[in-house]
Amino acid sequence: MTLLRAIEQTFCSLKSPTQEELKQALQAIEHQLSAASDYKTEPTQFPYGRNVIYQTPELEVIVIHIPSASATAIHNHGTSVGAAYVAAGTIINSKFQLDAYGYPTLESDDVLQEGDYFIAPRGQIHQMTNPFHTSAVSLHVYSPPLSSVTRYLPYTEVLDYVI
Ligand SMILES: [Fe+2]
Repeated sequence: MTLLRAIEQTFCSLKSPTQEELKQALQAIEHQLSAASDYKTEPTQFPYGRNVIYQTPELEVIVIHIPSASATAIHNHGTSVGAAYVAAGTIINSKFQLDAYGYPTLESDDVLQEGDYFIAPRGQIHQMTNPFHTSAVSLHVYSPPLSSVTRYLPYTEVLDYVI
């Protein structure tokens, strides 16, 4: 079975899933997930490639390709919850809290390797970084589909603008 067919069969019946249910659905098709690398795209408007491979009113599945020495912005996922799988390479998943002034402060770094799963609870602020020499590819599922995502600038970058 192809990855797209497996995703369709597994995710089409989910209604308002939790992040744990999304993770379990990914685990149910684990043998197909390494094929996510076949759907990676090169960066265009962002420092990473982003390819929506399946979408319904309930959820969407996205393949993220972070090249060597690249990263996403620090961001949240609006009202969505998510789960993800590392299909290739290694990713640092950094989680942040907002300080009293609304600037993100680092809370933890997780090293995620090929075959690892991770989840994004509602409201989580994070950044994915690939400081390594090989590309990283991950497959993400969000419910509901992403909208009103907020990006955050670290305080040090805000200072760059004013000094
Ligand atoms: Fe994210």
